[in-house]
Amino acid sequence: MSQRVRKAVFPAAGLGTRFLPATKVIPKEMLPVVDKPILQYGVEEAIASGIEHIILVTGRGKGAMEDHFDISFELDATLEKKGKKELLELSRGISSMARVSSVRQKEPLGLGHAVLCAKELVGDEPFAVILPDDVIDAAPPCLKQMIGVFNEKGGSVLATMTVEGPGISAYGVLAGAPDPQNPRIYNCTGMVEKPKFEVAPSTQAIIGRYILTPRVFELLEHTQPGAVGEIQLTDGIKALLKEEKVFGYTFEGKRFDAGDKFGMLQATVEFALKRPEFGEKFRAYLKGLV
Ligand code: G1P
Repeated sequence: MSQRVRKAVFPAAGLGTRFLPATKVIPKEMLPVVDKPILQYGVEEAIASGIEHIILVTGRGKGAMEDHFDISFELDATLEKKGKKELLELSRGISSMARVSSVRQKEPLGLGHAVLCAKELVGDEPFAVILPDDVIDAAPPCLKQMIGVFNEKGGSVLATMTVEGPGISAYGVLAGAPDPQNPRIYNCTGMVEKPKFEVAPSTQAIIGRYILTPRVFELLEHTQPGAVGEIQLTDGIKALLKEEKVFGYTFEGKRFDAGDKFGMLQATVEFALKRPEFGEKFRAYLKGLV
């Protein structure tokens, strides 16, 4: 089994109902933060972390995601003819960014099932999972930090964040204790998907970045529907925990929940403020509003 993490799975088959009407025709993963689809933030993070092969788990009507990473002949030819060099480089850069494969999740059976759909494309090697809704601003990239932990610890690694209060029930939550040597690492003993606040085992919420060993695929094949009636990735990893070590990792960086309207607005404002070409102008504009 190759130990290098070379492949990243992007579950992206959902209907995106939280963003209707914008997502009636457009995949939610193609909604932009400033001028870049949220999916591209995740793909760029993967590539900057050493990933070579992107695996999209898609659904009906979501072909725009594959088209985005393909060559756009008409666009490139027009930009070339008009001498728009920078835009041409931008467009060509996206299509040559990475090797992209896709597989369909035919039924919405849950995140665990979506990851299982990538089994053949991943094969017998450790792999990453990136949930494109979670846009993470971090240097070094969140996934790169996690690959460092995977290489050091030799077990699956889940990104985590501390969530105090009832908001914890929106997440998968870890049970266990922080590593005495490194407080960023959490030694897992269990996990539960979307627990009620009163029974949440800790404040360590799983965020949409995972490095998993391929054994999880066989376990997901036998995972029964759990929280909200879906086959949960958390339940598959919980089964993995009976056989292998699993670690939580509090990454350095800031996560935005771009699957939520408020989180999307926060991401848009913060990424816009960082843009050299209009960040200052935008800051002055925001100040003028309050
Ligand atoms: C999914 C996972 C959950 C995780 C969350 C992070 O939930 O099932 O364990 O905490 O992503 O964003 P979803 O947000 O798809 O309901």
